[in-house]
Amino acid sequence: MATDVNRQIVLAARPDGNPKETDFTLREAALPEPRAGQILVRTIWLSLDPYMRLRIGNNEQYYPAVPLGDVVVGGAIGQVMESRHGGFAEGDYVEAYSGWQDYAVLGGGEARKVDPTLGPLSTALGVLGMPGLTAYLGLIDVGRPEPGDTVVVSAASGAVGAIVGQVAKIAGCRAVGIAGSETKNAYLTDELGFNAAINYKTGDIGAALDRACPDGINVYFENVGGAVSEAVYPRLAARARVVVCGGVSQYNLKSPQTTLSNLQNILFTEAQVGGFNIFSYAARYDDGRKRLAGWLAEGRLKYKEDVVEGLENAPGAFLRFFDGETFGKLLVRVAQ
Ligand SMILES: NC(=O)c1ccc[n+]([C@@H]2O[C@H](COP(=O)([O-])OP(=O)(O)OC[C@H]3O[C@@H](n4cnc5c(N)ncnc54)[C@H](OP(=O)(O)O)[C@@H]3O)[C@@H](O)[C@H]2O)c1
Repeated sequence: MATDVNRQIVLAARPDGNPKETDFTLREAALPEPRAGQILVRTIWLSLDPYMRLRIGNNEQYYPAVPLGDVVVGGAIGQVMESRHGGFAEGDYVEAYSGWQDYAVLGGGEARKVDPTLGPLSTALGVLGMPGLTAYLGLIDVGRPEPGDTVVVSAASGAVGAIVGQVAKIAGCRAVGIAGSETKNAYLTDELGFNAAINYKTGDIGAALDRACPDGINVYFENVGGAVSEAVYPRLAARARVVVCGGVSQYNLKSPQTTLSNLQNILFTEAQVGGFNIFSYAARYDDGRKRLAGWLAEGRLKYKEDVVEGLENAPGAFLRFFDGETFGKLLVRVAQ
């Protein structure tokens, strides 16, 4: 049953460097009322994702920044509490970019019905949602893996990276993950079947890559940038493909690093470096979701969730992305 209060987390200050909890404020607003053609949705699961750091910063080249005082952007799964739209009934589960709040009023085109038989509802924000689709479509469409290829992925134990490695294995490749702790790396090799895992925080990343990828790197799925990329690029094999998906090591820097002054190894290897933005691939979502759901049902894909309880704890949880404290898909349970 809906209450008459809608708790919302709004952007209080634009982060300067690392985000802080004080960059966010919780406010209480009136429960919104749907008009004709709209639905009222109660948030159950809120997805936290590193891209949100770009949206609350000043990265207009990516997407318009969230204005100060606005509800923080975010994908969520919710339940329809009231429907004034013919395509949705009370009780339906939907996915929408409804933001960090308890309730949202949405037009029909802003919500997608979730099929709860495909997996637990939360998977629609993880392995069967935006991160899973990013992994699958980024790897298949831009990485173009061939059987026998060595696929290296950074932030490998995260929501995207863990699926990249498993899809690479399904495609007949060797999967090598790069992550920030021994526990994460043991998970990659022992539970997900990666061929090797490298801790980028200890030891020489380049030497570890030489050991794990003796024939070079055919596909690099880039999630982090920085020192990890510096070690990967010189080890690309002939005609390698690089999927530039993310650069989490750069998101909080006041002046992101640049290495454009020497890309000669791209010439020497004839490697192809391709940017990937999941939001340009909407036409492929159904195909991707069908594949991922099939592998999940067959037990060929595993996933891990990192669940935080309560909307009020979303800001604190979001900060954990940037010190490597998250392990798996980061979710906030807003309501049961
Ligand atoms: N292009 C797109 O369409 C698209 C869509 C979704 C996600 N992405 C990007 O994909 C990447 C992964 O997203 P995700 O949701 O799966 O996040 P995630 O991997 O679950 O979480 C981010 C992880 O990045 C690692 N990290 C943090 N700071 C780092 C640093 N300085 N150097 C190296 N690693 C660092 C941390 O793990 P460790 O312990 O391993 O350090 C952290 O847990 C992000 O860059 C995100 O922006 C892009």
